[in-house]
Amino acid sequence: MTAVAQNAKVAVVTGASRGIGACIAERLAADGFQVVGTATTAAGAAAIAERLGPNGCGRTLDIADQASVDAFFAALAEAPGRPLVLVNNAGVNRDNLLLRMSPEEWGTVIDTNLTGLYRMIRPVLRTMIRARWGRIINLSSVVARMGNPGQANYAASKAAIEGLTRALALEVASRGVTVNAVAPGFIGSDMTGALDAAQTQLLLERIPLGRMGGGDEVAAAVAFLASEQAGYITGETLNVNGGLRLD
Ligand SMILES: NC(=O)c1ccc[n+]([C@@H]2O[C@H](COP(=O)([O-])OP(=O)(O)OC[C@H]3O[C@@H](n4cnc5c(N)ncnc54)[C@H](OP(=O)(O)O)[C@@H]3O)[C@@H](O)[C@H]2O)c1
Repeated sequence: MTAVAQNAKVAVVTGASRGIGACIAERLAADGFQVVGTATTAAGAAAIAERLGPNGCGRTLDIADQASVDAFFAALAEAPGRPLVLVNNAGVNRDNLLLRMSPEEWGTVIDTNLTGLYRMIRPVLRTMIRARWGRIINLSSVVARMGNPGQANYAASKAAIEGLTRALALEVASRGVTVNAVAPGFIGSDMTGALDAAQTQLLLERIPLGRMGGGDEVAAAVAFLASEQAGYITGETLNVNGGLRLD
């Protein structure tokens, strides 16, 4: 595992093994951050380390497991550099109509997507407040505001993330820490790859820009919010959805 370089601004990106998270990790590394990217498996973490090379490292982390989060931060504390950027990207879906949704399907999504953020944010906040600089960026979704049949658990978790973003932004603004969300629309990834051709076609017809987005386009929004230039933006949700839903 590559060691985190001394004095670099460390950015933690959860779920960096694939999809949008992989794009975010690579973009932040290109922007000069030392990136700690996470995966749920050792193989995934090793692949992240290989992709990031000298600009970061890969670690294993399960945000649904408090012991795993504790171990992740304990290991991070041993490495040089403190996390001043946290991108809460990792997320899961377990789609089903609410009438048929099992407690497991409900609980997994809420515990990972929402409570996972609670577990991840608390350990980094103290560091950011001490540094009087920090960036927390949470991945929401267009369905937080639009809704989507079969995704009551997922939409609820993402709407809650936007509420958490606004409340926390107010709590830490005076300490130089900004908290924002990015809400992607339909982005090419394993998550959207699970849709069948007919579902995909229907979706494309509803997107004014007429195409799915790229992970790099979401990463560009995250990179902006992580930058110095975004220092006067907090509590916001930035839509990256091709016009699918306008606020
Ligand atoms: N794709 C879209 O169209 C879209 C739209 C709106 C919002 N989003 C949001 O954007 C984020 C990324 O989506 P994506 O499509 O790139 O997802 P994805 O391709 O399914 O990848 C999910 C990532 O999260 C990690 N992960 C899953 N469960 C985890 C856990 N318990 N602890 C830690 N990491 C975990 C996975 O790690 P492993 O590889 O180790 O499993 C993987 O790196 C998610 O929050 C998603 O809700 C996506």
